[in-house]
Amino acid sequence: MNHIRKFNCLSFIGFILLILNCWLLTPINPALADISSTNVYEQRAKHSSDGIGKYYIGREIAKVMGHTGAGWLERPSRELEEQPSKIVSALNLKPDDVVADIGAGSGYMSFRIAPLLSQGKVLAVDIQPEMLDIIEFFKQEKHITNIEPVLATLKNPNLPAASIDLALMVDAYHEFEYPQEVMQGIVKALKPRGRVVLVEYRGENPLIMIKRLHKMTQKQVRKEMQAVGLVWRETKNLLPQQHLMVFEKATQS
Ligand SMILES: C[S@@+](CC[C@H](N)C(=O)[O-])C[C@H]1O[C@@H](n2cnc3c(N)ncnc32)[C@H](O)[C@@H]1O
Repeated sequence: MNHIRKFNCLSFIGFILLILNCWLLTPINPALADISSTNVYEQRAKHSSDGIGKYYIGREIAKVMGHTGAGWLERPSRELEEQPSKIVSALNLKPDDVVADIGAGSGYMSFRIAPLLSQGKVLAVDIQPEMLDIIEFFKQEKHITNIEPVLATLKNPNLPAASIDLALMVDAYHEFEYPQEVMQGIVKALKPRGRVVLVEYRGENPLIMIKRLHKMTQKQVRKEMQAVGLVWRETKNLLPQQHLMVFEKATQS
């Protein structure tokens, strides 16, 4: 009889421990539930020919634009179509800022930002060494010394911790194959009051003649930034076809 009572008592304690364990492991924020999962991506056989068939929070990731497209990034009509000078002035840069241009490509944005950073610099980050070679070439040609090319991997922007004031992504984020890992690397690289700025073609507008996977809606961008602990601060609607969204680390007041 004593034996049975002891067994029941042990089962009851085991049951309580199980409940406690489940309760402690349940994420409070549904967005953070994605982070705790080991597999945040979904591979689908049926997908767009512009994408890689891999989905992140319901969005199909676009194919990477190869380095042979660098000439298109530098097209003269881009100034009129995208008005990048407005992007640069909207960033409110300080002369000593360290700016990471993530997915820098040929450095189209990096070379517009670097002259404003008299005591700072641009880290021009890309996964394609050929793009970084183009940046090196332009550096020599334009006599610019405060741009440092950084070779990233698909999962890691290779930036030192707490080293950047701003991470800028122009027409790039939608093609990151591991967006969550890259963003986690960026969040670690931000200084305490650092900002993340994303410029993407407006996915809400069907009249913008850009392939669907190369556009993003504000709603989707916000979900994906929230998943890595970033807080939306503002959207600047000053560009003809893109939205410019500003995020900060959640810990800030
Ligand atoms: C469409 S281009 C845009 C280039 C540049 N931001 C501009 O506006 O001219 C996108 C760039 O992102 C780069 N890229 C793709 N995945 C990346 C990743 N995981 N980390 C860093 N760069 C990446 C590509 O190699 C490509 O050069």
